[in-house]
Amino acid sequence: MAPLCSGYHACRFAECKSRDQRMAAGCILASNRESKMEIPVKGIRMSIEDSYNRLAPDYDLLRFGDKPGRYDFEETEVLIKNIITTRLQGCCHHWLALDVACGTGKIAVTVGKLDETIVAVDVAPNMLRQCLARSRAAGVEDKVMLTNGRAEVLPFRTGSFDICFSFRFLHLLPRAAYPGVVREMARVVRPGGHIVIEVKNRWYGGAVFWVKDLIRSINGESTFSSYMDIRQLRSLAEEVDEVSLESVTGLLLPSGWRLMEYPYLRRIARVQAKRQFKRFAANLVAIYRKG
Ligand SMILES: C[S@@+](CC[C@H](N)C(=O)[O-])C[C@H]1O[C@@H](n2cnc3c(N)ncnc32)[C@H](O)[C@@H]1O
Repeated sequence: MAPLCSGYHACRFAECKSRDQRMAAGCILASNRESKMEIPVKGIRMSIEDSYNRLAPDYDLLRFGDKPGRYDFEETEVLIKNIITTRLQGCCHHWLALDVACGTGKIAVTVGKLDETIVAVDVAPNMLRQCLARSRAAGVEDKVMLTNGRAEVLPFRTGSFDICFSFRFLHLLPRAAYPGVVREMARVVRPGGHIVIEVKNRWYGGAVFWVKDLIRSINGESTFSSYMDIRQLRSLAEEVDEVSLESVTGLLLPSGWRLMEYPYLRRIARVQAKRQFKRFAANLVAIYRKG
């Protein structure tokens, strides 16, 4: 007999074709997007939702359009595939993933291309539209389930997912919100499942993040930060009882994109970013396990 997947939600989810069917099956609860938190964008105060709605049409071009951006994208794909191979393959036939703050679908489409189902949630409808366009272009729209909602109150039942990804998101929130958001991710993941969180690394980018944070604090925004560090990722596991930290690795060495055309050197840079030089990596990736 085939090994069982994380729970009946995943199986029921896979059987339901349309969003309405999935809602009726109780896999997705309601969309929840109240309470708009405001952040300063170019001197204007606007909600994160509004700022990403505005940015959405240009997001992929701005973030992934040039050589460093393409390198970032490709290295992230390699990382996701590796995590799936090491954490999920052999666990069950129908595992189910969640992408919190999915944006334009960098993670969701990578998982969809592996022929696996992923639920992608984001607060900004225009980012979800871009995610839909990207999953259509990749031919995986039936694998990527889009949901409009907030990470703070995820519209899913407890224990529904085998793994939860959240990339380049947590550091956008006020520091005090980190434990609550991770606790909410832990709630929707099954016991033994994983939460993978990627953030900008404090020690990367020279003075850029420091100056950004200094300006923020002068403007009275000292509760926000532009980055996180390894210590903060570790202490999250202490604050959130439901999870333990399995590993923190680095992703992308500074200027590593210059090695893009040389697969062998690229592989060396990848390993270095994960191990010896992880403190200098552009991003940190923490893998938590729900106990
Ligand atoms: C920097 S983008 C990252 C997108 C994607 N994860 C990636 O790595 O490319 C941050 C995303 O977080 C979303 N977001 C911001 N606050 C959110 C919240 N409270 N709940 C859910 N999504 C949120 C934004 O709409 C945006 O799509």
